[in-house]
Amino acid sequence: MSDDQRAWPHPWVEAYAPATVSNLGPGFDCLGLAVHGPGDTVRARRRRQPGVVLTKITGDGGRLPLAADQNTACVAVTAMLERAGVADTLGVELELDKGLPLGSGLGSSGASACAALLAAAGALDLHVGNDAMIEAARAGEAVACGSPHPDNVAPAILGGIVLIAATQPLRVVSLPVPEDLWLAIYTPGCEVKTADARAVLPHQVGLDAAVRQSARLALLVHALHTGDLALLGEAIVDELVEPARAHLIPGFMDAKINAIEAGALACTISGAGPTCFALASSNEQAVALLEILDESFTHSGVSGRGQVDQVGPGARVTSKPLH
Ligand code: HSE
Repeated sequence: MSDDQRAWPHPWVEAYAPATVSNLGPGFDCLGLAVHGPGDTVRARRRRQPGVVLTKITGDGGRLPLAADQNTACVAVTAMLERAGVADTLGVELELDKGLPLGSGLGSSGASACAALLAAAGALDLHVGNDAMIEAARAGEAVACGSPHPDNVAPAILGGIVLIAATQPLRVVSLPVPEDLWLAIYTPGCEVKTADARAVLPHQVGLDAAVRQSARLALLVHALHTGDLALLGEAIVDELVEPARAHLIPGFMDAKINAIEAGALACTISGAGPTCFALASSNEQAVALLEILDESFTHSGVSGRGQVDQVGPGARVTSKPLH
């Protein structure tokens, strides 16, 4: 049955994309991982007219724009349709359910974009490769926070731990995930806009510091390949970005010191923050570290919420159209 013969309205296709933790210490803008949850959900269905429209957003407290040129999900889907050469002929309607808090450092905008891409591709029967999806999602990031950084959207699409080795052209590498790697992820009760967190970064760094950061990034990749969690913890130290951003997160340094003193393998900022994560080698240790992060941030007046999680799969279609 052709699309035109199919009864309108066409059925909804639903997709989900997970939260992501990016940078992972020394991997600013080039390293990220997907977690099991929470995440964002998008429903998409084909519409008669060309173009992308977003008709409903839930879970955002009324804060996100519906306008197609301002919403990261619409911008990403439009970019995908343009890349596929079908923007003038195909149209899609989207509904977005935010499971992730805004401005949290958990890849919230990237999750919306990636869920929208999968749902829209499903609704339109478009076969789009992972790299093309990541490129389209980057266009959404550029609108959401002024920078097309790939380190949230690549793991949100692919799942696992992902190194973005190059962006022109895109080159992504999935890295091994140690089985016993656990994360205590805590989002304090404050918000940091990614654009603001990028505005405080140094424009230049010293050669010595760049060498040390590169060495730790190499060590991190080695630690993942060997499954050596102690080495991984040693590698997750960021002397370029974290010091410039720490003041944006009330109580961050105290929380980090407390987590490390309690035995965390590492503790740093997730993405642009304010979410922080501590690494552990067991579920029990991660639960204990989450309590410590909660106590610390509560003591600093920014009580929030968190979860114990592991590295998880990427975005997926959660329903299929009935043909
Ligand atoms: N790598 C980006 C940053 C992630 O740290 O600004 C933002 O979510």
